Amino acid sequence: MTNTIIHMEGIKKHFGNVIALNGVTFDVSSGECHCLLGDNGAGKSTFIKTMSGVHKPTEGTITFEGKPLSFSSPRDAMEAGIATVFQDLAMIPLMSVTRNFFMGREPTKGRGLLKRFDVDAANEICMEEMRKMGINLRAPDQAVGTLSGGERQTVAIARAVYFGAKVLILDEPTSALGVRQTSNVLSTIDRVRGQGIGVVFISHNVRHAMAVGDRFTVLNRGQTLGTAKKDEITSAELQDLMAGGQELAKLEGSLGGTI
Ligand SMILES: Nc1ncnc2c1ncn2[C@@H]1O[C@H](COP(=O)(O)OP(=O)(O)OP(=O)(O)O)[C@@H](O)[C@H]1O
Ligand SMILES: [Mg+2]
Repeated sequence: MTNTIIHMEGIKKHFGNVIALNGVTFDVSSGECHCLLGDNGAGKSTFIKTMSGVHKPTEGTITFEGKPLSFSSPRDAMEAGIATVFQDLAMIPLMSVTRNFFMGREPTKGRGLLKRFDVDAANEICMEEMRKMGINLRAPDQAVGTLSGGERQTVAIARAVYFGAKVLILDEPTSALGVRQTSNVLSTIDRVRGQGIGVVFISHNVRHAMAVGDRFTVLNRGQTLGTAKKDEITSAELQDLMAGGQELAKLEGSLGGTI
């Protein structure tokens, strides 16, 4: 693909004796959703933390917009346009949606000593950005804690998009959600991709991944098992590739149902 935003090549990460990543190659293009799948402990979180500047790789190279790059902090990565929405969202439940949306980056009015937080502008931007994501807030001063899990994910996604993300990394955004909330988040991902942002979607759930993914990479014990495009693989094959796929199929057979 020609419009690759970030390319990670042969990434290794060791924590003392623990080999969390042992040569992972992965890239994301603008306007695609690339799913990263794998069982518990496969190295998914470690990998995206390397991508977002939290960890330095022990070995391997990162190319961002065609140039070799090494992030020395998450702030570096964020400034380059890599935004991560972690599962334990960095939000303050008792604060308003608007405050959480801006989180220290509020628009201001006036100058010098008179400079202050422009509440009206902030509220307006927040309501508008959430509306674009398909959520009509009751009021911008509504506390984040009163939103549903899916809506909170959407606030975090809308915030990343508003602040200019080129790559949006979502670590298991649907794992704690019910059916309707999941479908809302999946359609938000679709909308974000439509704006030319490259989405990295981490999941355990093959169905969720299949619903929005353009490409799929499976990690197993710190190694890439391969990358496939949507029309090259079925959910059954993807499920089998993930560690435990075989076991689940056996269990499914003996229980006579679908898990
Ligand atoms: N800071 C660390 N120090 C030591 N070992 C670590 C550290 N971070 C991760 N690991 C190890 O690296 C391996 C990969 O962990 P990681 O959290 O990346 O897996 P994961 O695929 O995200 O799993 P899950 O699906 O459970 O979130 C695990 O064996 C884990 O114990
Ligand atoms: Mg993880």
